[in-house]
Amino acid sequence: MNARLFAFVGGEIGSWRVIETKTVAGEGLAEVKRLNVVNAAVPLLPDDAQWLLRGVTSNERYVTRSERAQLTAKQPVLGRRQATCAAFIPIRKTASWWNLAQDERRMILEESSNHIKTGLKYLPAVARRLHHCRDLGGDAEPFDFLTWFEYAPSDSAAFDELVAELRASQEWTYVDREIDMRLARD
Ligand code: HEM
Repeated sequence: MNARLFAFVGGEIGSWRVIETKTVAGEGLAEVKRLNVVNAAVPLLPDDAQWLLRGVTSNERYVTRSERAQLTAKQPVLGRRQATCAAFIPIRKTASWWNLAQDERRMILEESSNHIKTGLKYLPAVARRLHHCRDLGGDAEPFDFLTWFEYAPSDSAAFDELVAELRASQEWTYVDREIDMRLARD
């Protein structure tokens, strides 16, 4: 379990400097100077930190075999030298989303909203990692997903376009809390 566990600590330290924090939907998060991304358990809020969000990487839920092949062929790794920009976007979906059956969620995510098809257009510019929060066992995780993206400064406008396309989709009518943090590595 531990290798899949990630902690995002908002505070004064970490290699990512926060450039901008926008509350897109629902309750905001305290503004912080830096984000520390830790691939390990962080059981307690460190001194000087404002918040701690946790998630685990997991198996895919919705991708088909052919989508997986396209993703695998195009998706870059995290940590590329030129990818000095990042976006950290914690998201929560509504109870009505979670009450849907798996096939209904797939229909909305891809057949109606083209999430994967849209995302694929932005590869290999954008590298990503999806973290799930609902399976951590605790009952107090404030988000369902912690999404993380890395790209070069020259791809910032393209990333904004991608996010705007997704937010206009049917899938996003099920999002009731979303914070959009943009960061730079120095
Ligand atoms: C899920 C691809 C951008 C938020 C997924 C999944 C794929 C995917 C394949 C489904 C994973 C599964 O089968 O479980 C991409 C690609 C992108 C991209 C290629 C291009 C960079 C984004 C952006 C956001 C986002 C910009 C946020 C603004 C999410 C969320 C989920 C997800 C929250 C989980 C949905 C759920 O399980 O209900 N993405 N995505 N994605 N993506 Fe994206």
